[in-house]
Amino acid sequence: MIELRSDTLTQPTPAMREAIANAVVGDEQKREDPTVLELERRAAELLGQEEAVFLPTATMANEIALRIQSEPGDLLLAEEHSHVLIAEQGGPAVHAGLLVRPLPGYAGRITAEQIRAAMTDPRSGHEPRTRLVSVENTHNSAGGRVWSLAELDSVVAAARELELRVHLDGARVFNAAGALGVPAAEIGRRADTVTLCLSKGLGCPLGALVAGGAELMLKARRAKHLFGGAMRQAGIVAAAGVYALEHHVDRLAEDHARARRLAEGLVDAGLELDVDAVETNFVQLNVAPFGLTKAEALERLKEAGVGLSSTVHPTKLRAVTHLDVSDEDIERAIELIPRALGVLVRA
Ligand SMILES: Cc1ncc(COP(=O)(O)O)c(C=O)c1O
Repeated sequence: MIELRSDTLTQPTPAMREAIANAVVGDEQKREDPTVLELERRAAELLGQEEAVFLPTATMANEIALRIQSEPGDLLLAEEHSHVLIAEQGGPAVHAGLLVRPLPGYAGRITAEQIRAAMTDPRSGHEPRTRLVSVENTHNSAGGRVWSLAELDSVVAAARELELRVHLDGARVFNAAGALGVPAAEIGRRADTVTLCLSKGLGCPLGALVAGGAELMLKARRAKHLFGGAMRQAGIVAAAGVYALEHHVDRLAEDHARARRLAEGLVDAGLELDVDAVETNFVQLNVAPFGLTKAEALERLKEAGVGLSSTVHPTKLRAVTHLDVSDEDIERAIELIPRALGVLVRA
């Protein structure tokens, strides 16, 4: 099976397993786990923030970030298909009591004008207080799309002017940084809080961080405990993170090149897709021209030995490259995908 469903499906490499086996650990809840502390220090630096807090998942990181920067009844602005709005079970409402205004995006991005237009009157005795903007980079549902620094600057400037906090869901921020050719800190330092996921392109079995200023991170540590996320000998897992930050960041460029090659190969084989939209490790593929539903196409692809997955788009599937996908896998996928879809056209 060529596994292109998600970059969350990687297996820890032998070297990562060795780092895990050799981890020096302590009681993380007491801040006595040296490996967790080391991971938090490195992540904060790489994300251009003062401090970072180690967490089990990026969902928890996002939810904590939103909670510590808002009061119940406040309004959160975010792109309508962002992960915080569509894939965290209403977490912003449940954990932070936030009202949400979903904004239609372009390639996962929203604009300063949209933020200004959505802004409530802070002096009103009736309207909810607009408090937070959440941006996602890279944007998952849009197909791993990247914000340019200019677009990000414009949104952050509007947020500052309107006294709104900015959360960056940077679960894949290293992919974004690689695509832009800038250090991740260039992106991360622009936001008040940043989520980084270790278990996507970075290839860890689990783990995430939320980063921000020291005062906010004090609140984040309290929220982590409240959410039941304060752990014990968590250095066992953090060791994978330290390893990944050293060895798996630069190699994300290989995933991006493979996604691009896949897209180009599929276009050469006659499939309709937008190669220019392949900015990182996602390829989105429209199955409507084959007269197939997404479920039918997925089934056919699975039978052919290629795992793709669904997107929020009614007729688009996605292929995601990662650590466990080789050049040979991509060449084989370029043969198998059109054949699997073409067989159905003739059926
Ligand atoms: C952009 C983004 N943010 C957050 C998450 C949440 O990560 P996890 O499922 O590991 O909590 C994901 C997972 O796919 C994601 O794509």
